[in-house]
Amino acid sequence: TKKIIFDTDPGVDDAMALLFAEASTDLEVVGITTVHGNASIETTTRNALYLKHAFQLPATVAKGADKPLSIPPGEPITFVHGENGLGDVDIPDTFPQDVDARPAYQYIIDTIKAQPNEITLVAIGPLTNLALALQADPSIASLTKEVVIMGGAFGYNGHRGNITPVAEANMIGDPHAADIVLTAPWPITMVGLDVTQETIMSNAYLAELKDTSPRYGDFIHSVSRFYADFHQTSAGLDGIYVHDSSAIAYLIDPSLFTVAKGKLRVSCDGITIGQTVLKQDERRYPQDDWYDQPTQQVCTTVNSQALRELYQATLNKA
Ligand code: BDR
Ligand code: CA
Repeated sequence: TKKIIFDTDPGVDDAMALLFAEASTDLEVVGITTVHGNASIETTTRNALYLKHAFQLPATVAKGADKPLSIPPGEPITFVHGENGLGDVDIPDTFPQDVDARPAYQYIIDTIKAQPNEITLVAIGPLTNLALALQADPSIASLTKEVVIMGGAFGYNGHRGNITPVAEANMIGDPHAADIVLTAPWPITMVGLDVTQETIMSNAYLAELKDTSPRYGDFIHSVSRFYADFHQTSAGLDGIYVHDSSAIAYLIDPSLFTVAKGKLRVSCDGITIGQTVLKQDERRYPQDDWYDQPTQQVCTTVNSQALRELYQATLNKA
């Protein structure tokens, strides 16, 4: 089993990904670190704690950054994930608030250092916590087993941006943090819109989960209703794009994806802010400092049908 720290801004698809990871016998979610993004840090942390208690998840929950490193915080995207960040499903008023005493970045540092080369970081929100952890202790880069990130868009299969023509939400949510994380010397796989917008879970598929997954199916169907309405209105989709759960699918079965290799950067200002760039050639321009960076990988194709089957089979067994 891979031990993972799950860095997240729940978030409808974050919640769906968390339950997928929890249900998988290949993964052990040891920690859940929260970040601003789909909603405020108070809301995303409340949601993580709610999920922990509703589904008896053993993971530690640590509260993370409330805003991006350098740019002003964005407005909560309530039209995507609902007022409460979980598609406006009912959440009880009271449940244990047992959040770790440490800020998320410190929890990340401590956990990685306690188990060198054992921890995989899965990041499915803006990358502020990971950047803060690297800034506070750069040694974690070489002690981390793997970093899998839902974010970015590299133009494969025609996908470039979902917030601006070139920027994906998690990248533009904190571009400076993303550039720090993507240029650090740890092994990264980007699961971007290139593949996440290639996989759709239809409303019929989500309804079927109610019958097949006794533990999680009802919740996944309910939590996805508001999100599916947003996809219907904004993209004319019957169902939802599979963003965050695709990162979990990559961890469970990387053979579902093909990858391209190269060096990564994120644009931090101007009209391209939040754009991810993959450098695969050896050309060198004046002031081009990309040469010292590690070569990373970016997902370029996905077997969508097999991914949907993996998600369902994993949840059905839990
Ligand atoms: C990403 O943005 C968020 O709204 C989703 O949770 C996902 O992590 C997709 O661009
Ligand atoms: Ca997310």
